[in-house]
Amino acid sequence: MRNDLAALMPVLEGFSSRTSTSDGRAAERGPVPFANAVPAEPAEPLAEELRPVHDLRDTLLRRRSTMHYGDGPVRTDVVLSHLREALEQDRADWGMDAEAGELEAFVFAFRGEGAPPGVYRVTAGDCSHLAGPDEVGPPENLVLQREFAAAAGIVAVYANLDRADTWAGSHGYRVCAVRAAMATYDFHLRCQAAGLVGSLFGGLIPSAVRGLVHSDGVTRHPLLATTYARP
Ligand SMILES: Cc1cc2nc3c(=O)[nH]c(=O)nc-3n(C[C@H](O)[C@H](O)[C@H](O)COP(=O)(O)O)c2cc1C
Repeated sequence: MRNDLAALMPVLEGFSSRTSTSDGRAAERGPVPFANAVPAEPAEPLAEELRPVHDLRDTLLRRRSTMHYGDGPVRTDVVLSHLREALEQDRADWGMDAEAGELEAFVFAFRGEGAPPGVYRVTAGDCSHLAGPDEVGPPENLVLQREFAAAAGIVAVYANLDRADTWAGSHGYRVCAVRAAMATYDFHLRCQAAGLVGSLFGGLIPSAVRGLVHSDGVTRHPLLATTYARP
């Protein structure tokens, strides 16, 4: 653990710079669209499966650290619905999509039901299926820590750093990181309240899915991930 605060302070202070390092033309570039995306239907917001089975207090009290997940499938359409709600909340809370770009989440659904397995793209306004499990390959290839590969699925939240930097330099990056963290925790807590489990983690291997999600590390860059699974 790095605890040399004197060395870290200039790094943290650097994030307060609002000077863009870009060429001011981010609005002309966008993340690459997905030509073969097939629209997908998240579960209806009033679906029985989306109703929380625990309130916030119980959810927090029930939290335990464990190395193991249950091996049952998780309803993928329900996961898509939780995620879309978290991203809608980001759009409503921050109101920054037009200036600093929208958050995009990619779901790698390994062990699901209610919708085909594979890769999904979810934003506040869109949900589509991008690829089947064969194109994703073994889950172990996606993560630094093997235990996360045993989850029913992984959600990775991406941001458009090109737009964020053009909006407000390093501060724009900082705001994107906070938005991604809030949205990921929002999704994770919705899953926990529904009786599922998971871990937020930084160890997604971006290069393992770079081609699949057309991530160039600038207009579409991964910031945070979480697993979801049955307990
Ligand atoms: C930004 C962030 C990144 C994290 N990355 C990892 C990680 O890569 N690997 C890991 O085991 N835990 C990671 N964690 C910690 C786990 O999410 C989790 O908090 C930890 O396993 C302890 O579980 P508990 O919080 O339920 O007690 C990260 C947490 C945060 C907030």
